[in-house]
Amino acid sequence: KNGADPRAPTSYTDLTSTLPLEEGWAIRLRKYQGFWFPQQILPGSMAMQQNFKARPDDVFVLSHPKSGTTWLKALTYAIVTRTKYPFDRHPLLSQNPHECVPLMDRSYSTGQDSEIEAMPSPRILNSHLPYSLLPHSIKSLDCQLIYVCRDPKDVLVSRWFFNNRMRSEGMEPIPFTKAFEMFCEGNSPYGPLWEHVLEYWEESQRRPDKVLFLKYEEMLEEPMRIVKRLAQFVGCPFTPEEEKEGVVEEVVKLCSFDKMKSLEVNISGKLRPEFVTNDAFFRKGGAGDWRNHMDPEMARKLDRVTEQKLEGSGLTL
Ligand code: A3P
Repeated sequence: KNGADPRAPTSYTDLTSTLPLEEGWAIRLRKYQGFWFPQQILPGSMAMQQNFKARPDDVFVLSHPKSGTTWLKALTYAIVTRTKYPFDRHPLLSQNPHECVPLMDRSYSTGQDSEIEAMPSPRILNSHLPYSLLPHSIKSLDCQLIYVCRDPKDVLVSRWFFNNRMRSEGMEPIPFTKAFEMFCEGNSPYGPLWEHVLEYWEESQRRPDKVLFLKYEEMLEEPMRIVKRLAQFVGCPFTPEEEKEGVVEEVVKLCSFDKMKSLEVNISGKLRPEFVTNDAFFRKGGAGDWRNHMDPEMARKLDRVTEQKLEGSGLTL
């Protein structure tokens, strides 16, 4: 009904259809509690918010989309399962990271939440909800949260490409200048980006042992350091023997952009029949592609918005 997934709970679908609408992104967005959500997924997010029951040993990978979620999921999964599977027969070689670490928002919107309940502990789960909207039990149980953010200019470019890939047949491409304006106004999927990032940043300052705040760019610069930090954070640090044997390098290599992009499952596989092929999650994979899509004046404008929004927070992006 109204473009929401037909398997989502009806009452949330009805509520969704009453919310403010943004139609410029090739998918419909609805504004709920200060953030813009894809209409198709929002009833599921609402159901999750109400019904999800966390376990104390759950680990959550959280992000504003297009910030490096796929990579962070792969790394966290590879770290936690490293003694269970040999690297040359690892599930990440035949499954997309989104299959290994499910997006809870999506599972709830497609009526597949029982699969999340059936997962053995320790679970690694993913959500794009802002911190303020996370299910209560995640906070009350003090679960480990890992958040990744990225230069907003690259998030915008990545999002623009992704939504143009997702648009239905016959639909005009989204002009970049229009995407730019909507993004700067905060009218973008899971936007405003700055509020999303700030909520997790502030929580990571309050509870650094429970909220690990990462930047995509630092992951690119020092993947080995980040992998070791991640392992420590989720309670399974690398032993000196593992470090000597090169296990940290193995994790980095398995999850590297070139490796993931080259796998058959990530070339022609699909998460759902009606969805884009998985290669859409592995586009360019670096920092600074915004230079190919924005003139210096646009970049300055977006940087100014970022500076203003983050002023006084101690965070720079
Ligand atoms: P680009 O579109 O700039 O290439 P998300 O996973 O949150 O949707 O973010 C997608 C971005 O992460 C895309 O950026 C994608 O190419 C990049 N990405 C995906 N897998 C990666 C990996 N293993 N290493 C580095 N970047 C990766």
